[in-house]
Amino acid sequence: MTIQTVRGVRDILPEESGRWLFLEERARRILAQYGYRELRTPVFERTELFARAVGETSDIVEKEMYVFEDRGGESLCLRPEGTASAVRSFIEGSRHRSLPWRVFYLGPMFRYERPQKGRFRQFHQLGCELFGPEGPLADAEMMALVLRLLREIGIAGAVTLEINSLGCPVCRGPYRERLTAHLESVRAALCGNCQRRLERNPLRVLDCKEENAALLEAVPQMRDHLCGGCAAHFQGLVGHLERLGLPYRINPLMVRGLDYYHRTAFEAVAEGLGAQNAVAAGGRYDGLVAEMGGVATSAVGFAMGLERLLLLMDESLGGAIAPEVYLVVAGDEGVEGYGLGVAEALRGAGFRVEMHLTGGGMKSQMKHAGRSQAPLTVIVGQQEAQEATVMLKQMESGTQESLPVGGLVERLRQLTG
Ligand code: HAM
Repeated sequence: MTIQTVRGVRDILPEESGRWLFLEERARRILAQYGYRELRTPVFERTELFARAVGETSDIVEKEMYVFEDRGGESLCLRPEGTASAVRSFIEGSRHRSLPWRVFYLGPMFRYERPQKGRFRQFHQLGCELFGPEGPLADAEMMALVLRLLREIGIAGAVTLEINSLGCPVCRGPYRERLTAHLESVRAALCGNCQRRLERNPLRVLDCKEENAALLEAVPQMRDHLCGGCAAHFQGLVGHLERLGLPYRINPLMVRGLDYYHRTAFEAVAEGLGAQNAVAAGGRYDGLVAEMGGVATSAVGFAMGLERLLLLMDESLGGAIAPEVYLVVAGDEGVEGYGLGVAEALRGAGFRVEMHLTGGGMKSQMKHAGRSQAPLTVIVGQQEAQEATVMLKQMESGTQESLPVGGLVERLRQLTG
């Protein structure tokens, strides 16, 4: 019996990792442009961190966390998201003393969800968290960053930015009551899951993926019940987006699946991904730092799912990196040693060199050279080893030349520009 990967979890194979690298490098460049620096938090944390931050009644905490007890009897879990860890780190490091604190993270997250297209049990998020600024300017800058990232990898055209306001503790309580009253009046028409949500977290009913759409049209909307401060914040955000010329759509039914949001919530939604269509999502969480025991600090952030971005990204971007030189060696151990010396000298000069290490005749080795996609092949045989020369072949034209090994780096520089 061979052992296979766990359901919903997969390898990123060498054929694909070039695309990942491309995406990560582009993202890192843009994050640096906006002043974000990387925060690397552990992949496991105390279970309580997420229970408190993400919310006891959220799907993530109720059904999706990988929870285990360590040998000391402590309840730990694999992180299902990055915001709670960033908040923990913010509080632990007393970062409120020098605001703003801008951080990004990039790495695997874990959720026990039903695997499907674009949904995995181990997936990768790139997330940003910005602590300090209270106004809508920060929200707008963050959305500009998300859209720039999507443009940079060529998928902005397939994505719509949706925004909403979820209010604050002042206005959400009364709204929640109105919503609950309304939903109670149509309870019989709700799906079973929503009937349960109605008791515990009525806002989540708005997020129902079942056939409740018609029902939800008549529902009271948070946006019509915002307090003065929240309404001004949302108006301010819309004004900034308009001035920047950033395309957006107001989605009054967007609620998000995590409980920590205040005011702004947003999602970047893609066509062509099916049900799992959010490529990025986030919002403001002004109350979370204080709730978690820190000095009250406003914050806003988002995370994007890298697997989903890669599903949308053009196939041609970030392909495998071919060697510049393939080194073919035909001869005894002495010749092979000479060949290895040549390869090392070229690498020392900065070239990507793949050396043929498994023997075989010249013909079969040349076949490997062709398959490697290297534009140049260096061939070393008995005669070359004796005379301290090499044979250099330009693969496209087939041109061959013999030259002293001492002149090889110079010649390769000429040919590769
Ligand atoms: P989230 O909406 O749970 O938010 O996840 C953010 C993004 O992660 C999603 O839009 C999606 O692209 C990706 N994602 C989530 N679950 C999966 C999965 N099972 N498989 C593949 N991709 C997935 C958060 O996690 C918040 N922490 C975002 C945030 C940061 N809010 C403020 N700061």
